[in-house]
Amino acid sequence: MGSPLIVTIDGPAGVGKSTMAKRLARLLSIPYLDTGAMFRSVAWKLGKGAWNWSEEDLEKALDGLAYSLSGVGEDSVLSLNGKPIGNEIRTEEVGMWASNIATLPVVRNFLKKAQQALGERFSLVAEGRDMGTVVFPGAPHKFFLDASVEERAQRRFLQLERMGKPADLDELREQIAKRDAQDRNRPVAPLKPADDAIVIDTTELDRDQVLAALKEAVA
Ligand code: C5P
Repeated sequence: MGSPLIVTIDGPAGVGKSTMAKRLARLLSIPYLDTGAMFRSVAWKLGKGAWNWSEEDLEKALDGLAYSLSGVGEDSVLSLNGKPIGNEIRTEEVGMWASNIATLPVVRNFLKKAQQALGERFSLVAEGRDMGTVVFPGAPHKFFLDASVEERAQRRFLQLERMGKPADLDELREQIAKRDAQDRNRPVAPLKPADDAIVIDTTELDRDQVLAALKEAVA
């Protein structure tokens, strides 16, 4: 068996990375890894304000967390301590908590190791903020998806509505812009395209067009 194939998809909040990662992973018959869900589940598990804890307390709490992955494409299931991660992490509030803990090197190092360990076991479409730059710098296929804040707020609004969690569009736009700024400007693993990533502005593209661009590049 050859070494696992890693495809990375990075980009800001609400750009459609998860949808694309699921669909591309299905085409390739491999799992997709939602690393945002890893940051969100740590934030959710540790609770509000954990970003103010001492490094020692954070290390102790992180020590008890183990991630596992099963399934393929949209049926990939990421579990924390044996339990599938659920929709409770999918709010903008938990997204902001995740962004807060994501500024801490102790959390980033812990999750980087967990992500790389999964990448040694499985071929993956890995999506997040620093997949191509920091976690899988040697990946043969790297993408960076982008879109205007307005477009991303609209997409997130519809996604939350479908999940039965209606949100206020103006508030969403503000939250996404704030989270973007924090993710792009943090000193450790800031959100940015890898030098060798293919950058795709999806503002004017539908999902099938984006998928076609990814597919063509991977083929
Ligand atoms: O992608 P998602 O919106 O679920 O990510 C939640 C937060 O987790 C992001 O705003 C970002 O701060 C953090 N994150 C990160 N690195 C990743 C994935 C997510 O810093 N690879």
